[in-house]
Amino acid sequence: MLIKFFPLTDIEFVSVKIENFILPINLNVRKLDLTIYQINMIMIVNLSCYMKYNKVLITGGLGFLGYHCVERWLEDDCEITVVDNLSSNAVNKDNLIYDQVSVIEDNILNLDVKDFSKFDIILHLASPVGPVGVLKHSGTMGKTIIDTTQWAIDVSRKNKMPLIYISTSEIYGYREQKTKLKETDDKILHGDFTVRNEYSISKLLAEIIIKNNSKIDKDFKFQIIRPFNVTGKYQLPDGGFVLPRFVNQALNDEDITVYYDGSQLRAFTWVKDIVEGIYLTTKASEEYWNEIWNIGNENNEKSIKYLAEKVIGYTKSNSKIVSVDPVEIHGELFAEAPEKIPDSTKIRSFLNWEPKKSADEVVLEVVNYFEGITNK
Ligand SMILES: NC(=O)c1ccc[n+]([C@@H]2O[C@H](COP(=O)([O-])OP(=O)(O)OC[C@H]3O[C@@H](n4cnc5c(N)ncnc54)[C@H](O)[C@@H]3O)[C@@H](O)[C@H]2O)c1
Repeated sequence: MLIKFFPLTDIEFVSVKIENFILPINLNVRKLDLTIYQINMIMIVNLSCYMKYNKVLITGGLGFLGYHCVERWLEDDCEITVVDNLSSNAVNKDNLIYDQVSVIEDNILNLDVKDFSKFDIILHLASPVGPVGVLKHSGTMGKTIIDTTQWAIDVSRKNKMPLIYISTSEIYGYREQKTKLKETDDKILHGDFTVRNEYSISKLLAEIIIKNNSKIDKDFKFQIIRPFNVTGKYQLPDGGFVLPRFVNQALNDEDITVYYDGSQLRAFTWVKDIVEGIYLTTKASEEYWNEIWNIGNENNEKSIKYLAEKVIGYTKSNSKIVSVDPVEIHGELFAEAPEKIPDSTKIRSFLNWEPKKSADEVVLEVVNYFEGITNK
């Protein structure tokens, strides 16, 4: 039996989720009532209480990570509003036909901050993304990332709702050798003015702006999330993400194109593990707010070549693995990612985050997903 307690200082009501009890039910109960429920049900139910956000705003909610966030918050029976301009969406409105979800198809920058006063929390994911996806935003991406983040800050501060900002592990920059990265590690700017740097430095600047807003506004609450190599169901090959690209190549018996010699290491982390980490930060007790959190599974460290071999194994494809120069394919603006492995000690020890899927299991999930689409 798991019973979790969170400080209840600034909320009058808590939500109690009772599972395994004839039917799962959610109750909103007063602090004092909890004791009674605990006494009555302690032997027969799995009881967990948590701060509940009834109205959740998710920017980029039709994107890969955003859609998984919608699915996670739906488990809490929240009312969710998604804003997405369909610039790189992984799913569309039809995937979200739930009574409690509404979708605004627009650029957040076209929307008036004043119209978003009714929410309890904002998850800001809308952004250009992906090693190939960012290339078309070259030269304008810095402004886009900062303007959209400022919009999210304004919504959050004006309406006193916490902001969850989805940053990136890219902000750590370049390392000569494989390094396990902690939240406090230096950010190393390397090389020239690559598009990859435009992305990573803008995301870092957005983090700094968020942090500094909290210095001038004591009511402003935020969490900054740095996901590492997210992958899983719904991720598209379009943005240049490696696993969906390999799986599609394998299913079509095309060559699997590995950049350079394929020895690059990545810590592939299951998207639902990342989303669970994001979720836990929103439930953190007061002393764990206004923090930065690495989320990535260091135990899933694999080379790109290993990934290609696994994909061939699971798809039983006749594809061959061939080494290519990505710059010849994507042009001079392309830059390969440096090796980054997370040190996720902080979220594991303070928020009890525990990733569930191994790299092989994630590969299998993505293979099954695309096989399902292909066989339709
Ligand atoms: N996928 C990864 O491996 C990864 C890793 C680290 C960080 N991130 C971060 O996670 C977030 C989500 O990434 P993703 O992989 O789900 O990308 P995605 O492209 O699948 O999702 C982003 C969504 O935002 C929407 N969008 C973009 N600009 C918008 C705007 N101005 N107004 C409204 N909607 C807009 C897009 O249409 C898309 O649906 C991004 O902030 C990204 O920087 C992703």
